[in-house]
Amino acid sequence: MEIRITIGEPNEETIGQVALLHQQGIARGFLSSLGTGFLSILYKAISRSPYSGVAVAMDGDTVAGFAAVTLSTKKMYSWIFRRYWFRLGFPFIIKCLSPEKLMKALQTIGYGLLRKQYGVTMRPCAELLSIVVAKNCRKKGVGRKLIDVVDEFFLRKKVEAYCVVTNAADSVSNSFYLSNGFRLNKKFHHHKILMNEYLKDLHHFPGKPLPDRNAAETTL
Ligand SMILES: CC(C)(COP(=O)(O)OP(=O)(O)OC[C@H]1O[C@@H](n2cnc3c(N)ncnc32)[C@H](O)[C@@H]1OP(=O)(O)O)[C@@H](O)C(=O)NCCC(=O)NCCS
Repeated sequence: MEIRITIGEPNEETIGQVALLHQQGIARGFLSSLGTGFLSILYKAISRSPYSGVAVAMDGDTVAGFAAVTLSTKKMYSWIFRRYWFRLGFPFIIKCLSPEKLMKALQTIGYGLLRKQYGVTMRPCAELLSIVVAKNCRKKGVGRKLIDVVDEFFLRKKVEAYCVVTNAADSVSNSFYLSNGFRLNKKFHHHKILMNEYLKDLHHFPGKPLPDRNAAETTL
């Protein structure tokens, strides 16, 4: 498998595959319930915002996995809201017409903007928003390679630490983060589900050399 990982603005076809992977890989998440059309616009916005990025692992023309990151959830959401409020807001409102969905939507937005109230750490602001590897590419090191590229992205931006949140009951993602240098920082409830917040301290590796620009191209 020849994997090439890049952070940039993916084309429409790639963004569509990223959206589908999100929906399949994080099937129970609220954002997945909003559909691949909504997710495509959201990931396009995340890739364009100066406060975030999407790393895509390509195996030929097929997306093998992706990771979305932000330097500041609050700044990213507010940048996206100002530019995409109509394209994202309209389908969002249509999908949230039931009181239960509206509550989930408000909790999801509230988590991004008011993390302190959820008992989630306010430092660091940088966060790994999502990471998904295609089912047929799992357990081959693609996820680990994506984390390497995410670390490199944050190191270049002078970020010392970043966090990620996952369902405490999901043994695969918890063991994935632990085996990639994250440490459990906090537990909290979101949508009545127990969540684990992990932190990765990049300043623990002060001498870590930045890989050269071709490091994102690899054969697994
Ligand atoms: C979590 C996920 C991204 C891992 O991607 P991956 O490419 O399969 O992971 P890697 O092959 O790089 O594995 C790295 C390490 O993670 C751990 N790991 C990966 N899959 C595992 C599994 N099924 N069971 C236990 N540990 C696992 C192992 O420690 C592994 O190291 P090893 O290969 O030396 O044993 C992938 O399973 C996935 O997309 N899951 C669905 C989406 C999701 O849960 N995302 C995270 C929450 S947003």
